[in-house]
Amino acid sequence: TSKQRLLVVANRLPVSAVRHGEDSWQLEMSVGGLVTALLGVKEFDTRWIGWAGVNVPDEIGQKALAKALDEKLMQRCIPVFLDEEVVHQYYNGYCNNILWPLFHYIGLPQEDRLATTRSFQSQFDAYKKANQLFADVVNEHYEEGDVVWCHDYHLMFLPKCLKERNSKMKVGWFLHTPFPSSEIHRMLPSRLELLRSVLAADLVGHFVSACTRILGLEGTPEGVEDQGKLTRIAAFPVGIDSERFIKALELPEVQDHMKVLKQRFAGRKVMLGVDRLDMIKGIPQKILAFEKFLEENPNWCNKVVLLQIAVPTRTDVPEYQKLTSQVHEIVGRINGRFGSLTAVPIHHLDRSLDFHELCALYAVTDVALVTSLRDGMNLVSYEYVACQESKKGVLILSEFAGAAQSLGAGAILVNPWNVTEVASSIGYALNMPADEREKRHHHNFKHVISHTAQEWAATFVSELNVTIVEAQLRT
Ligand code: UDP
Ligand code: G6P
Repeated sequence: TSKQRLLVVANRLPVSAVRHGEDSWQLEMSVGGLVTALLGVKEFDTRWIGWAGVNVPDEIGQKALAKALDEKLMQRCIPVFLDEEVVHQYYNGYCNNILWPLFHYIGLPQEDRLATTRSFQSQFDAYKKANQLFADVVNEHYEEGDVVWCHDYHLMFLPKCLKERNSKMKVGWFLHTPFPSSEIHRMLPSRLELLRSVLAADLVGHFVSACTRILGLEGTPEGVEDQGKLTRIAAFPVGIDSERFIKALELPEVQDHMKVLKQRFAGRKVMLGVDRLDMIKGIPQKILAFEKFLEENPNWCNKVVLLQIAVPTRTDVPEYQKLTSQVHEIVGRINGRFGSLTAVPIHHLDRSLDFHELCALYAVTDVALVTSLRDGMNLVSYEYVACQESKKGVLILSEFAGAAQSLGAGAILVNPWNVTEVASSIGYALNMPADEREKRHHHNFKHVISHTAQEWAATFVSELNVTIVEAQLRT
């Protein structure tokens, strides 16, 4: 039998494009949990529809980019072109200045609050317009029987756009971030419209309570019913393609990276942080906790280093620019305070790593520090566990990351706001005896290799198919 056709629709394509000439493009891997999870989806005949991360105003450039994407990729990528103004209002504005901080309980940016209030309507209009542009590309490529899987907070309007055109289309929507309590969501001026648009889908990955409280709809174990139409709602915890990481550790280039890293840090314990430089990741909190640990344990000063990979992200949004300078300032201060002529306690890198470098780092480090203030799942914690079969390093994990539900028993759970607690957990992790490390690691490893991205996608798509069949039986 032929594979089920799947149209994945996400704002972000797995590759981002950099222009080198009128018709020449370079493609780079995109960073983020959404891309990582979706790269693990292999059981389907997949097309991926999304934005390539650049403005391409001219037709020559657009054609060349579509061709470059088509040639390079097995999972075929279809670009959606958004002009600069739409990107500014939809991506920088509504998605990342309003929805993202709100969904992560950060609230609206303090100083921008009034400006945001004023520009709210035009940003929301741009959001709807962008969603309509995604819908147009989906319609162009849709074939009967396709499953259309929409992703994340950028595309909450898409299910409605799609169903209005074709009520028979199988439409699922999955949110990769937390969905906030209704007390938070109700602050949004567009609260009703957003929820109703999502409910146009046949299957949705969670948020029953907001629907019941804000829309006043009846929630059942199966989902919610709005004007006679049932939307099935369920939770689908995401995972990683663990094999890809485990296998990578055997590759000669990864082994080479590991050797270099081990030599470089010989005689020191290495703690690792890997995050997009985002306010939800609690990077300042993490660094301040590390400072407190050094303050209280001067004997560790020359024996431990914190390696923080901070991948630049959403750099046109002012909140992200402010965070970057804040983090640089704290790192500089602490390195000045605890550094010596030959060594500093914090290595902070504003860049991304390639896959092989990243795997090597995961494998050789002693402790991973994940201090998210809120996080959908946090796949970095899964990746660290997947790469630690030989070393059995310790995972310190925020209780506010989704992963705390699944890796809680093996990790040391912390409240990232409690600097004292995080500092003492660092000490506990660095001194943990081998048998305890082994037991904790084993627990997490079992989970990571049995709850994969493949399984996540297969469950979601099969639920969606079942939901449609059941709906047909009811009518
Ligand atoms: N990542 C990457 N290159 C880097 C650093 C991180 O590709 O230099 C990936 C990492 O492997 C992980 C993802 O970015 O899969 C981050 O996902 P996570 O769920 O932890 O957080 P998100 O960025 O989605 O908020
Ligand atoms: C999170 C979001 C994704 C997003 C990623 C990277 O994982 O849930 O939708 O792709 O961050 O952010 P960016 O804005 O670069 O796509």
